[in-house]
Order: sequence, then structure tokens, then C-alpha cells
Amino acid sequence: MDYRQEIKAELEKILGFEIEQIESPKKAGLADFAYPCFKLSRTMKKAPNLIADELKDKINLPFIERTESVNGYLNFFINKQQRVKDVLEAMKEDYGSSNEGSGKRVIIDYSSINIAKPFHIGHLSTTAIGHSLYRIYKTLGYDCYSINYLGDYGTQFGKMIVAFKKWGDKAVIDREGIREMYRLYVKYHEEAEKDPGLDEQARTWFLKIEDKDEEALSIFEWMKQRTLKDVERIYNDLDITFDSYNGESFYNDKMQPVIDELKEKKLLTESEGAYVVDLEPYNMPPCLILKKDGATLYATRDLASATYRAKEIGFDKNLYVVAYQQSLHFKQVFKVLELMGYEWSKNCVHVEFGMTSMEEGTMSTRKGKAIFLEDVMNKAVEKTLATINEKNPTLENKEAVAKDVGIGAVVYSAVAQSRINDIVFSYDKVLSFEGETGPYIQYTHARCCSVLKKQNSDIKDIDYSLLTGDEEMEIIKLLENYPAVIKNAAKDYQPCYISRFLISLCSAFNKFYFDNRIISDDPSLTSARILLTKKVRDTIRSGLYLIGLKAPEAM
Ligand code: ARG
Repeated sequence: MDYRQEIKAELEKILGFEIEQIESPKKAGLADFAYPCFKLSRTMKKAPNLIADELKDKINLPFIERTESVNGYLNFFINKQQRVKDVLEAMKEDYGSSNEGSGKRVIIDYSSINIAKPFHIGHLSTTAIGHSLYRIYKTLGYDCYSINYLGDYGTQFGKMIVAFKKWGDKAVIDREGIREMYRLYVKYHEEAEKDPGLDEQARTWFLKIEDKDEEALSIFEWMKQRTLKDVERIYNDLDITFDSYNGESFYNDKMQPVIDELKEKKLLTESEGAYVVDLEPYNMPPCLILKKDGATLYATRDLASATYRAKEIGFDKNLYVVAYQQSLHFKQVFKVLELMGYEWSKNCVHVEFGMTSMEEGTMSTRKGKAIFLEDVMNKAVEKTLATINEKNPTLENKEAVAKDVGIGAVVYSAVAQSRINDIVFSYDKVLSFEGETGPYIQYTHARCCSVLKKQNSDIKDIDYSLLTGDEEMEIIKLLENYPAVIKNAAKDYQPCYISRFLISLCSAFNKFYFDNRIISDDPSLTSARILLTKKVRDTIRSGLYLIGLKAPEAM
């Protein structure tokens, strides 16, 4: 039941013309909905309060209990019992899902790790936000297509081959994976400072990869597979799968046609031996397409990959979940696509987010101080297990619960706030069972489960008037709004709308829980409260799923 829409339609019927959206007064208790008559006052040449007075008596809607005219506002009060009934009865199994996206495809480029490099804490946001957006869009009926656009191209792979040949051991890499590759990467940079000749060798090896030299390609492919095997553990723990792992190297042979097209469309200009697309009229530096030595760039590959996505995969939206440091890059790429005449360029979106750093200090990838995401996840799980052992030692499946909660806490930290904010990661903060954390939400969910375990008989003939108190109404209004929260989260690419919603729902429920006995001697009161608890539990579980967290039943 969309009250806002119904009220708008009723007013339009009375007035005979279209009006603006109905408002929800911010202050609690003022009214459920309100229509300001100030704009009408001009067209109707009548004082706003008189308009409100007149409209007031003409409203005839069964769910409206009362209307009032105050200072030019027409206020609406909804019959509480009716509202409780409408909301709770609307909450079917798939509450919040819709088919608004039916027949539409959304591509989500996220996580997009770099081969032979650490999957570090800096990748947490893209991974968590991207995964959440995938689930949110899917719930809204979109056909989602996820891409892990691997960073598997560039001179750095020449460096890796040099390092491997000089200091590496195949068996150690097979065993240690990324960590050993990373050790070689760091060693390379230390040594290259002393011996500049190394870079020349690296360039040669990189050219060999490009020329499809057998040895070069086989070392490169092996390192790539070994990297993917390592990150698979993380993706498994996070329940993430990708529809495609086509990364930069996949576009090796797909850049030339784009370069030709740029030439044909007279967009390519020579500048000091290099080729660029001039973006001066748009107040941006030129987009570099080919270097002096003929090498292609990150932007060249992104032009090829966007074109490929449009032509071969097809999309209504093409999202790039990438840190804000790359904002200029995407602005340039999207602008070039627009200049190429591609209508679909306006459906490419850079979903940017802030930086994540650790409370205990900065990391430097080159110097070997990268903080592996897997280590952070493991430590969070360990700490959670210690807390459980201390507070609830007899809990069943302790290890599994610790994993759900520990990993969930880490993921939550990346979707808790507006994505553009920088994050300073602190174990104590994210693992706390109080405050705006993942564990707090999961704990409230487990609390609902524990109540329902005690009393879960079939609920029939609910007396909805028993749920019209202020605390209950607070919960009802939140539940009512859940579908809109999901829609808005998708529209603004903001998983945090769901996180914040969950925090509000949990605190409203906890307040209700502490002030009332859910299970009492009064059977109809118990039934009504149990039903409310069940709907809260289902909604928390659904919301947790949408932001990528598990919902253990006890903790
Ligand atoms: N691998 C890149 C990085 O770690 C992110 C790639 C994002 N996707 C893209 N199509 N450019 O910074």
C-alpha cells in the first residue's frame, strides 16, 4: 500500500490537476504525511490556509483517520491499526524485491585485483561495495553481470619474470602463492634502485609477453593462475563469484580497432610523438592513447573494454566500482566514448569510494608493507572467537559463527558509511557488539531468533490494534520503508542506505524488546509481538544479505 501515492491521487482527483509529491514531516508526531499548499496559493490566488481548510473536508480515504489544516499545510494521519495490518500483510517472503529491472542488464566491474600483487586492505571497499550492489540490483530484478577486470598487463610483469629468474623458486611460489610473488616484487624494487639495468631486462621480458614468446607467456600465465587460486579463498569466504575475469590483457588485440576508430573520427592528435585525445574544451588534460614508443595505456584498454561490453555483452548500466583516485581517468574515458558518438557512454558510471587505511599506520605496497585483506579477515575471526569463548563458551558451531561475525564485521566497515568517505579501520571499533557495527546488527538478528525459538507457533487472527504503540509504530514505519530504501540504494549506488536502515531497525527493535515482554500470559498480545519479531528478523536477514553479511541464528 503506497499511502503517499494514494493521497496524491485523491488530491489530484479533487483538484483536477497534477500536484507535487506529498511530504513526510521530519518531526515525529507532527503528521504521517503533509501537503504544503503554498505553491497552489499562487495559481489559485487564495491563501494557503484557506486551500488546506477546503481540501480537508473533501478527503475521503479509508486509511486516513484524521486530517488537519495547520498554517497552510494539510496534514494526514493514517489509521494506525490499518497501517500495521497493511505493512505486515504486505511482507511476503521476497519483501523488498521487485521487477523494476526486468529485461535490463547491469554490468558491475568490481574487486578488479592485480595479478602477482597483494589483495590488500585497499581492495576491501571495491569488493564489498561491488558485491552489495550486485545483490541489490539482482533483488530489483536486474540481470547482473560481474566482472573482475584483472590488472594483468604492463611492464610490472616483465619485472616479475626478471625477479623470478634471478631470485625465485617455482616450488616456493607454488606453495606460498601471492606472498612469495610479493616478496620478489619488493626485492625487485630494492635491487632496481642499485642496478638500473634491471628495468631494461624487465622491458625486454614484457615485450616478449606481448610478442607471445612461449617462455614469457607460460611464466606469466602460471603466476596469473597462482594468484587467482589464492584470491579464490577470499571470494569463497565472501560468497562472491564473477561472471568474467577478463582483465586488461584480454584487450591486447582489441585496442587497435579502437585506435583506428579514433583516427577515423579525427579525435586522435599527435603530441610530442605520443597520440592523445584532446580534452581541453572540457577542462581536462588530454587522454593519452599511445605513448611515444607505441605502448598502449590503461585508458586505451578501458576504451576497448567499454566498447566490448557495449557490443558483446550489452548493458543498460556499466558500473565501475573504483577508488576516487581514478576519478579523472574515468571522466576522460567516458568523455572520449561520448566524443566517439556512443550514446551508451552516459550509462557508464564511476562508482567511486574513499581510501581505507589501518589505525595502526600506513601501508606501502612497494616497500613490502602491504596489509593483506586475508590477514585482516583472519585476525577479525580470531578476535571474535576469543570474545565468544569468553562470553558464550557453550555456543554451538563456535568456529562457524566466529567466521560469519568476524568477516561480516570487516565487510560492514566498508558499507557502513557513504562510500566517498575515507575509512580508518580499527579492529576494536568494527568488532564491537555495540554501536553502528555489523556484529550489532547480527546480534539483534540472533536475539530475534532466540525469542522465536521459544515461541513459534502458527500465528493466525492477529489483533493489529495491539501493535499501535509508539515503539511498535516506529518499527512498522521502518519496515514499510524497506522497499524504498533498496530502490534508493540502487539509484544512488549506496549500500550504506541499507546499513543505516538496519541500524535504525535494530535500535527500534531493541528499544521495544527492552521495554516490553514479547512472550507473556496474554496469548493475543504474545502472537502480535511474535509476528512483529518475525518480520523484523526476516528484514534484518534480508538486509544483511544485501550488504554481503551472513545472519547466524545464535552468537
Ligand atoms: N586494477 C585496478 C586497480 O587496482 C582497478 C581496475 C578497475 N576497472 C577498470 N575497468 N579500470 O586500481
